Amino acid sequence: MSHYRTRMRGHLTVPGDKSISHRALLFAGIGAGSSTLVGLGTGADIRSTAACLRQFGVTITIGDDVTQVESPGFALWRAPASTLDCGNSGTTMRLLLGLIAAHPGLTAELDGDPSLRKRPMARVTQPLMAMGALIQAPDGRPPLMVTGQPLCGAVHVLPVASAQVKSALLLAGLFADGETVVVEPLPSRDHTERMLLGLGVRLDSRGTRHTIQGRGPRTVLPALGSFAVPGDPSSAAFAIVAAVLHHDADITVRGFSHNPTRVGFLRVLQRMGARLETSAETDVGGEPVADVRARTSTLTATDLDPSEVPSLIDELPILSLAAAAAEGTSHFHGLAELRVKESDRLAAIARLLSLLGVETHSGADWLEIVGRGGAAHLAAATVSFLPGLDHRMAMTAAVANLTSPSALEISGFVEAVASSWPNFSAAMAQLVQ
Ligand code: S3P
Repeated sequence: MSHYRTRMRGHLTVPGDKSISHRALLFAGIGAGSSTLVGLGTGADIRSTAACLRQFGVTITIGDDVTQVESPGFALWRAPASTLDCGNSGTTMRLLLGLIAAHPGLTAELDGDPSLRKRPMARVTQPLMAMGALIQAPDGRPPLMVTGQPLCGAVHVLPVASAQVKSALLLAGLFADGETVVVEPLPSRDHTERMLLGLGVRLDSRGTRHTIQGRGPRTVLPALGSFAVPGDPSSAAFAIVAAVLHHDADITVRGFSHNPTRVGFLRVLQRMGARLETSAETDVGGEPVADVRARTSTLTATDLDPSEVPSLIDELPILSLAAAAAEGTSHFHGLAELRVKESDRLAAIARLLSLLGVETHSGADWLEIVGRGGAAHLAAATVSFLPGLDHRMAMTAAVANLTSPSALEISGFVEAVASSWPNFSAAMAQLVQ
């Protein structure tokens, strides 16, 4: 249903950051003892990580806002009784791969849903195998069979900027013997590094070069203890763009991570002319956090440089909608990674925008969007859009519905948004008056 004629007012909080939540659970599961996690993300992806950790003998009790974790410590993890189901979550699979590969005595099979089964895993399995890991991945895709081994440190020069790959290798490197170096082509999100440093691990991060001193598989890390997860900027982006595109909006999104490796979308929206104000800056869980007020704005087209992409990789669907409503033609470059997300997002964005009457042109790693000069000029036809299992495409389509006269029927919406923001519709509905 379109809320085009209504006003958007008020404030909202978004679920705990998905990337940080995965890591909080993993670090709480690696350390020996009790941890208390506050504000963990509510999506199915986080539950997949929790379910996998339980199979290793970690006790996790998820409450409304507080999650308790009790772990024997990584060295005492037991072999899982059945296949580890990572669901829709690439982060769960890739980070766990790094850990299991470094644990002699553990053997596990990792699998996921039809979307995850299509995603490339060789980017993690190959560098892990260079450290001595034993992994069977016949076509480089799940299901994967891992048999933990004593690993040796290695130098990895990554061809793509991927925090999942970097994190998997740093975790494997921590439990390997010797030094592991990971060099990225561009800086990707740095939550793993922040948390490792917070736990007193010897990690030297200089720009895109990260060096970790391996401590062997029997290393005992302290429990994570009390840890607060800030709000998710990748969820906040949907509410912020909804307000910017809406014809009568003034809302505030409270308490989400402003980690510079995550908020490239705010910089781009501001460059396009979005009326955004940041306030209440503070620090939560070792992350900068703030509120953002977003108001109805008139946007102009922008060009996106490949160097900006890692800091807004998950926001490209919603930024594309912003470009579709802007005045002028936007050119986005360096988008190859979009092809291997929860769906081929480059193709999915072009399909959604064309349903909205927007002209796009695309190549292997670029997208050109001919802006319509306002969300009001997006198409009004009732059309059906299938986001597949891609939550971010489903929420982008929902923001189009909220801000334009379009009436998209979004098939499989509830199943898709379950990954990161099950409460999305209710959260947006309470802003519409
Ligand atoms: C994530 C890293 C990014 C991002 C994903 C979460 C993480 O993926 O797209 O949603 O938590 O490390 P890549 O590492 O594949 O770029």
